[in-house]
Amino acid sequence: MESPFKADVLKGKVALVTGGGSGIGFEICTQFGKHGASIAIMGRRRSVLDSAVDALTAIGIPAVGFEGDVRRQEDCKRVVESTFQHYGKIDILVNNAAGNFLASAEDLSPNGFKTVLDIDSVGTFTMCHEVLKYLKKGAPGRSPSDSGGAILSISATLHLTASWYQIHVSAAKAAVDATTRNLALEWGTDYDIRVNGIAPGPIGDTVGMSKLAPDEMTSKARDYMPLYKLGEKWDIAMAALYLTSDAGKFVNGTTLIVDGGLWLSRPRH
Ligand code: HXC
Repeated sequence: MESPFKADVLKGKVALVTGGGSGIGFEICTQFGKHGASIAIMGRRRSVLDSAVDALTAIGIPAVGFEGDVRRQEDCKRVVESTFQHYGKIDILVNNAAGNFLASAEDLSPNGFKTVLDIDSVGTFTMCHEVLKYLKKGAPGRSPSDSGGAILSISATLHLTASWYQIHVSAAKAAVDATTRNLALEWGTDYDIRVNGIAPGPIGDTVGMSKLAPDEMTSKARDYMPLYKLGEKWDIAMAALYLTSDAGKFVNGTTLIVDGGLWLSRPRH
């Protein structure tokens, strides 16, 4: 689908996207690139990074891939530094890397719970922490007339209510949303950096959907969730463009729910 945004809304911007080699993250990279940004992708698997970078460069988008795990502070630091070395500045950080599986609270080990918090919550904070000095107004490579940079963290809607077999991810994403608000307050005030999030609903053709939604969900779910329909990765990327471009220049500290209204859904009676 064609973008409703002008092709230059992110012209000259440099975006670092964690977990950007596939799924929603890759679509964000693609749309950011199509709207003028240069892309750095952080991911754990070299082969996934290489394919993503090849696909982006094939359509004329400047792209580079750096291996790293957001659970390791030294990786986060190295990837942020490499991105700066490569492009000379950083304007946007997208925290998209996440881990997930279905497990009942009774069966989930504390280490399983911790693993997902380490990836989603601590990984998000660590990336924000490492990138801060490059996003500040007047940071190296940034024009003195530019505002501070932007951070966007991908959350979920699970924790807005409660979700079966997702206690670890619900807790992790609640922490991500809290981090978004707190950084928006501190870094918005001190450094003119905008910090926002997106909470996607079920999005088709993603690892999250294939792991979390067994096949019967797509058919049966419609009966008891009046608003249930799958979103597209494109929907999330358009929201990401809005929040990170000047279109969203007065939006700070919000997590935008992009789920077609599903979380409001109630069974018909
Ligand atoms: C129960 C599990 C488990 C499972 C792992 N664990 N998988 N417990 N059921 N299916 C437990 C392990 O037993 C272990 O605890 C602990 O978690 C760590 O497991 P490892 O296998 O060592 O972890 P690791 O290899 O680092 O893998 C991390 C991972 C994995 C999160 C488990 O799935 C991963 O790397 N995922 C990244 C990609 C991904 O999931 N993307 C989807 C994001 S979708 P013990 O106690 O045994 O040591 C998404 C959408 C959210 O986030 C919202 C949707 C609506």
